[in-house]
Amino acid sequence: MCGIVAYIGSEQARPVLLEGLKRLEYRGYDSAGMAVLNNGLHVARTVGRVRVLEQQIDGDDDFEGTIGIAHTRWATHGGVTEANAHPHVDDPSLGHGIVLVHNGIIENYAALRTYLLNKGHTFASETDTEVLTHLIGELYEGDLEAAVRSALREIEGAYAIAVMSQEEPDVLVAARQGSPLLIGVSEHGYIIASDAQAIVGHTSRVLDLDEEIVARITRDSFHTADLDNVKVTPRMRELEVSLDQIELGDYPHYMLKEIMEQPQAVRRCLRGRIDASGGEVILGGLGEHARDLIRCQRVVFLGQGTALHAGMLGEYLVEDLARVPSETDFASEFRYRNPIIEDGTVVVAVSQSGETADTLAGIREAGERGALTLGLINVVGSSIPSATDAGVYLRVGPEVGVASTKAFLGQVTAATMFALFLGRRRFLSNNQTVDLLHALEAIPDKIAQACETGDEAKRIAERFVQRDNWLFLGRGYNYPVALEGALKLKEISYIHAEGMPAAEMKHGPIALIDDGMPAVFIATRNSQYRKVLSNIEEVKSRGADVIAVATEGDDEIVEIADEVFFVPDAPEPLQPLLTIVPLQLLAYHTALLRGHDVDKPRNLAKSVTVE
Ligand code: AGP
Ligand code: GLU
Repeated sequence: MCGIVAYIGSEQARPVLLEGLKRLEYRGYDSAGMAVLNNGLHVARTVGRVRVLEQQIDGDDDFEGTIGIAHTRWATHGGVTEANAHPHVDDPSLGHGIVLVHNGIIENYAALRTYLLNKGHTFASETDTEVLTHLIGELYEGDLEAAVRSALREIEGAYAIAVMSQEEPDVLVAARQGSPLLIGVSEHGYIIASDAQAIVGHTSRVLDLDEEIVARITRDSFHTADLDNVKVTPRMRELEVSLDQIELGDYPHYMLKEIMEQPQAVRRCLRGRIDASGGEVILGGLGEHARDLIRCQRVVFLGQGTALHAGMLGEYLVEDLARVPSETDFASEFRYRNPIIEDGTVVVAVSQSGETADTLAGIREAGERGALTLGLINVVGSSIPSATDAGVYLRVGPEVGVASTKAFLGQVTAATMFALFLGRRRFLSNNQTVDLLHALEAIPDKIAQACETGDEAKRIAERFVQRDNWLFLGRGYNYPVALEGALKLKEISYIHAEGMPAAEMKHGPIALIDDGMPAVFIATRNSQYRKVLSNIEEVKSRGADVIAVATEGDDEIVEIADEVFFVPDAPEPLQPLLTIVPLQLLAYHTALLRGHDVDKPRNLAKSVTVE
């Protein structure tokens, strides 16, 4: 987690760093800090948000320099305190004034700490990061880049770092392994950041820093080499992200903006990839592996959180439309349970950020065991696409709200195209494919209709906002939607919510049902509709209040549910793209009514780059 931004150039560093931190704040927001070199080293750190840091250094002349580093933290080692906030400084007795910001975890920090304590170092924080800073100080002999390289050779774990030293006021050193870091090349200097969002306002040209590559950046040049100091040439690319995509515009929150952007996001995901009349799905990214894919024997989807729920839908879609045995697993569980990969196994990583450590590790494990690995990923240039054989980018644009919304729809859309791509070549007739593709083509407009349930969601949220325990129930394709609806509610409103198959409820959880417990049913017209109605009756007769997500024009459900969200009709495999939308809006309004920061829920971070 956490956001890093660093600057070296001809302009003042402070505004570039503060603006960058604000854009990266979604990555972690328990504390913030900045260091600037300006006739010596100046460091400010604070618990809380970037705006607190901004106030702290406002008008302070010490921070008027043209080189600096900054950080917004999501604590992994050591509590949320000012002493643990970054930047960290090396041992003052050495007098090098080396200062560092870090994203990731130094796994062997305890052994290194003991080694440094024996050398006489004293530590001011409980973090793993400070140990790395001290190690660089210990190894420093007048060349910061060389000291960083030597220190990184001793490190186990994940890092993205930006480092400077008051002894070399015109040099920034950056490196990464397992955590993201980009170098933006602008006309006035270099901006190093965890994510393109801190760079786009300055330039669209970025360098991708590969793993275990150290960059030495001065005001007008850069040099990159591996840990053995063998020179490498980094890849330069143009950013596809534009400033208006990451600005809030007229919306009060990113989450609402991103929910409302979903019709457009899905349209972009589909664009150029389906030829409905011809019954064709064109996934260029899978092209060279098409033959292996068509012959595949099993598909395994990996992800975490919302991405896992999209993976579960992928599993249902692939089994249903392509008749290939399929399953889903938490990437974190898959990796450590000695998974079986037979010939013909395809493993698909699903991720918005492309940086989720569990998913990255899981897909690497699958690749090492001989699986063909694919990614359904949103962020271009992130780590998972480079760790997989092929993939499909979601193209839904940057997602800033910590609660994933449009990325989920993008993941499900990509999984649907993947299933149809396989299905068309194995199981589905041309006519069936044509029908489904026409229905898919019509989905963005229907999502737009589902987005109109906002007022309804607000009213229903007002009615139930005081209830502390909720159930979300669905069958078939709508079971993963129940899981996702519950996750949305719990992560931003902090209400306890459980999602489960509607049929499972009577095998135990029914004991929880009490007068007035909200039970959300996804009860659209499909093959399991009648069964879902029976489940609704079961909870109603035990006192629950039923909120249903139903198909437009369904008069029957109005008779038994207390509240109903209507969404347009669609073929069963495409219904999740519609049924999740009112549940996102319900979670949003409930969290707002409870007074929470919906874009930055407590304890969470957008991108979880630690296992
Ligand atoms: C979604 O609302 C969550 N905050 C979280 O579950 C997220 O989906 C998960 O951490 C996976 O992230 P990824 O898609 O970037 O891999
Ligand atoms: N491990 C470091 C810490 O706890 C960095 C965490 C982060 O990536 O924000 O401070």
